[in-house]
Amino acid sequence: MDRLKIGISGLDDTIGGFPMGRSVLITGEPGCGKTIFGLRFAISSCMEGYNTVYITAEEDANDLHIQANSFGWNTQELEERGLLNFIELTGIRARITEAELSMDMDPMKGNFTKIIHDIPPEAEVVVIDSLGGYTAKLTAYEFRNQFDLLVYELKQRGITSVIILDSATSKEFNELALFSVYGAIKLGRRENPYTGRRERIMDIVKMRSTKTPLQFLTYEIGGEEGITITEGEEIPEEDLEI
Ligand SMILES: Nc1ncnc2c1ncn2[C@@H]1O[C@H](COP(=O)(O)OP(=O)(O)OP(=O)(O)O)[C@@H](O)[C@H]1O
Ligand SMILES: [Mg+2]
Repeated sequence: MDRLKIGISGLDDTIGGFPMGRSVLITGEPGCGKTIFGLRFAISSCMEGYNTVYITAEEDANDLHIQANSFGWNTQELEERGLLNFIELTGIRARITEAELSMDMDPMKGNFTKIIHDIPPEAEVVVIDSLGGYTAKLTAYEFRNQFDLLVYELKQRGITSVIILDSATSKEFNELALFSVYGAIKLGRRENPYTGRRERIMDIVKMRSTKTPLQFLTYEIGGEEGITITEGEEIPEEDLEI
């Protein structure tokens, strides 16, 4: 299976990149680096020459540029070259809300599939950051159906994607989403029982057709790749704060 470099060398060395044409889920608490991860992956994919779309629900494109620039990444230039496109979901949401309100529908429901229609046909790599705000009013059944459909349609279009789910999504939905995707990574933190210091940890929950490490990887936010893997270490599950 062809793989696409994530751009985080410690992770690329471990799993060889993300499988092309498939979806990987990134979950984790606020501030654990999901957006930085997504941005890094998007930039890496642009570097490989792929047309990349970053769909943002929480932050506007300008804030994402500021975040990227803080690591020395010139996302403005990638955008100017047409390799990277930001889509602000708030704009789409506003449009849907207006249309659906007039039809007396719940504006927050059924939006997953609409997201895919806003992805330009030339897109090869997509980051969705994040679906959290779209899950609030769904039942578990509806969530599973919509999430499955999104993953299915992305795959049908041959798109390599990273889907971010934040803690606005219930634990139950997070668990359901894990089944649908090809790969999943959880970001979290814990107190190291030996040093007593807090540290960030990454759990490669699954990556089909890939040999994955059982132990968590520790990482830091910083460095020229945004996320720097510091080491792989055996950590008890109950110590994982995610
Ligand atoms: N240039 C930088 N150098 C070091 N650390 C940084 C830098 N920029 C951001 N951070 C750290 O990264 C954290 C935010 O990461 P990020 O926005 O990716 O998290 P997130 O998981 O997307 O959070 P949320 O759930 O709120 O969207 C900040 O709280 C900050 O501690
Ligand atoms: Mg974020």
